[in-house]
Amino acid sequence: MNKENQSRLDTYISAVQDLSKHFIGYPISRDFDYSELYPLLKYPLNNIGDPMIESHYGLNSRSIEREVVQFFAELFKAPKDNSWGYVTNGGSEGNLYALYLARELYPQGMVYYSESTHYSVQKNIHLLNMPSIAIRAQASGEMDYEDLKDAVHTHRDRPAIVVANIGTTMTEAKDSVASIKKMLKNSAIRNHYIHCDAALAGTYLALLEKEPKFDFESGADSVAISGHKFIGSPIPCGVVVVKKNYKDRIGQAVSYIGTMDTTITGSRNGHSPLFLWYAIKKMGKEGLKARALASMELAVYATSELKKLGVMAWRNDDAITVIFPKPSEEICVKWQLASEGNHSHLICMPGVTKEIIDEFLVDVAAAR
Ligand SMILES: Cc1ncc(COP(=O)(O)O)c(C=O)c1O
Repeated sequence: MNKENQSRLDTYISAVQDLSKHFIGYPISRDFDYSELYPLLKYPLNNIGDPMIESHYGLNSRSIEREVVQFFAELFKAPKDNSWGYVTNGGSEGNLYALYLARELYPQGMVYYSESTHYSVQKNIHLLNMPSIAIRAQASGEMDYEDLKDAVHTHRDRPAIVVANIGTTMTEAKDSVASIKKMLKNSAIRNHYIHCDAALAGTYLALLEKEPKFDFESGADSVAISGHKFIGSPIPCGVVVVKKNYKDRIGQAVSYIGTMDTTITGSRNGHSPLFLWYAIKKMGKEGLKARALASMELAVYATSELKKLGVMAWRNDDAITVIFPKPSEEICVKWQLASEGNHSHLICMPGVTKEIIDEFLVDVAAAR
């Protein structure tokens, strides 16, 4: 590397180091250390095709990916003999995959999603050319079930494909799969599909066995999470778990790769499963749970300290997201706060410490 490029790289590395010190606005864990895996960065690992079927492309991490999928399938109580999944590029791809399966199952289906839903769902619906209706959300961000019922009744001739949020992007609100299921049953909508977008909160809520339940036993047909959020990964990734008999409706054998093409993309990142696997194995369920509880405790602390400063801060039950009126532009930029309308939030992801929150509180106090 010549001197000029070396200096460009050094400057970029130190900018990243600085930016990561004030990173509390997005739900990304930063407490990981994957240095034991660095030797594997020398290899072009590619999990192209179906993770459950070996491929001619032997330089892959399929066997590790299968263990990761198994962990999440068990966590989300997927049917033992009828589950399937893969490590995606993130929650958005998981949502796309689930909606794709739902469309193949119910080509005439109507998609219902609340107005608090992540933008990837609307985009995916557009990509898949599916009819859809946005449902009103309550002030907390949770779906308005009466509005859902009215919309479903208006289209009761069509199968219902409902996206339930397990932690909305802005307020970390949870939709109740049980309420959605009950309404569908009472409305005699026999053909239905419930996808849980659990990108943000799914992993820790399932680990802590919190209500409302959103697993397969409670009525989910598919669940998608982001891996770089709670678990943490230097490369964005996720996991989608679906019912295998739904997946079996899609995909084709491709002789060039020697496996089935059952995922969204062709080449798939072979390193992401390694990060997720390493974190799961190293921390174990108990370690992950302790990490989630620490985040929740910090969110309680941040909310009460903001209130002490006269800031109208609040959080949903069991949430690590704290919402408050949008502060000055200077604070939003420094702390990389995500805002919508007049509100911003901070998220106490693993890696955000009490010291960091205290530093943020000093800035908020000074601005008042
Ligand atoms: C609720 C929700 N769903 C989906 C996504 C998309 O996840 P990803 O960024 O991993 O694609 C996000 C990301 O913030 C989210 O908050």
